[in-house]
Amino acid sequence: MSSLHALLAESIHPTAHEVFRAHGVEVHTAPGGLSQDDLIRTLNGLPAGHLVVGVRSKTQVRKAVMEAVPRLAAIGCFCIGTDQVDLEDATARGVAVFNAPFSNTRSVAELVIGEVIMLSRQIFVRSAAAHRGVWEKSANGAHEVRGKTLGIIGYGHIGSQLSILAEALGMRVLYHDVVPKLPLGNAEATDALESLLSQSDFVTLHVPDTPQTRGMFGDAELRQMKKGAYLVNASRGQVVDIEALRAQLESGHIAGAAIDVYPKEPAKRGDTFESPLRGLDQVILTPHIGGSTQEAQANIGREVALALSGYLQEGRTTSCLTLPNLEPGPLSQGSRILNQHRNVPGVLSAINQVVSATGLNITGQHLGTQESTGMLTMDVALSSDDPRVQELVAGIEALETSIRTRLL
Ligand code: NAI
Repeated sequence: MSSLHALLAESIHPTAHEVFRAHGVEVHTAPGGLSQDDLIRTLNGLPAGHLVVGVRSKTQVRKAVMEAVPRLAAIGCFCIGTDQVDLEDATARGVAVFNAPFSNTRSVAELVIGEVIMLSRQIFVRSAAAHRGVWEKSANGAHEVRGKTLGIIGYGHIGSQLSILAEALGMRVLYHDVVPKLPLGNAEATDALESLLSQSDFVTLHVPDTPQTRGMFGDAELRQMKKGAYLVNASRGQVVDIEALRAQLESGHIAGAAIDVYPKEPAKRGDTFESPLRGLDQVILTPHIGGSTQEAQANIGREVALALSGYLQEGRTTSCLTLPNLEPGPLSQGSRILNQHRNVPGVLSAINQVVSATGLNITGQHLGTQESTGMLTMDVALSSDDPRVQELVAGIEALETSIRTRLL
């Protein structure tokens, strides 16, 4: 196998370094974000072998980089977002792109549980009074969460994790999702959103940002909530109508809220934050930090480095954003050829003709396709330095339909 190299920009968490080392990938680092030119220069200056690059949000990996560094096999976004990478171009060139969408699931679920308790005990209201020098020692409006009902809208990764934590506190859990989901523990699905809203003491949103969810929680939904219930939103800012929420908080129909995401968020740390919800003591406002923990950063480092190592060593593309998802399993002996091709009629027969011409026996094969591209892994019993294997690779690579061919 050729040597494997990872360039990690932007101080990616040390867990990524550990994973790469354990998988025989040599790590090279660049301290901050890199410009396109610096990235190209740095990548092309690395020793011969297969390359992957790891970035966070500051380093862009655009067409120019992929064009100038043809041996760049994969890009790891060590974050949730992928705007910094030209995904369309990566797909067309057969460059694998991975991110870490679920590494901070637990962090969000824990924050929501904490906020549910804080809201239920009026902690922010009492704390704000104490800061103003007022000793508000009272049990008014303060409740245990045990025995109360938590309504979860969106029972995906975060919603279902939260369901487990809430039940551990003795809460009753209801959920509503547009897709049928297996209830965890004793949680109960509600068919209609209205039914969840009318029964829940706390309603928490965990839906994605889609045209259907934007504005899905407005005045009508707030009014359907129980009087004195609480709302938590740590999903996406566009989901809740903030003006309507303010009105229902002022009317007292909604007792309090915890909001982490906003329709308009400041661009960077330190910027001024404006919101109609500012100034209400019964509202916990946090600056989109639901998933921002050291543990989530460590998980991101581990998760993306594992995905990149799996791709380099086995051709595994599980959760890849640009290639068909394949899980060919570890290669116990011999070698594996990875071929990405244009998904057109006759492509497999052309590959098989090359195989027949070399007379090699294929011991395992996996194929996946997506719209315009296909990916094939082929295992042969001979080692990668055997000339017949090299001949086979060269033959497949030369096919007009091949986009990228690599020998593992
Ligand atoms: P997920 O994709 O695992 O789950 C979302 C669930 O919502 C799915 O089960 C889906 O079927 C359901 N859903 C979609 N449309 C719906 C609708 N109209 N009504 C009811 N259910 C609907 O997503 P995950 O990982 O649980 O994330 C949930 C949200 O949390 C996302 O918006 C994500 O961006 C946000 N998030 C926020 C963070 C923060 O820092 N505050 C950190 C991580 C995620």
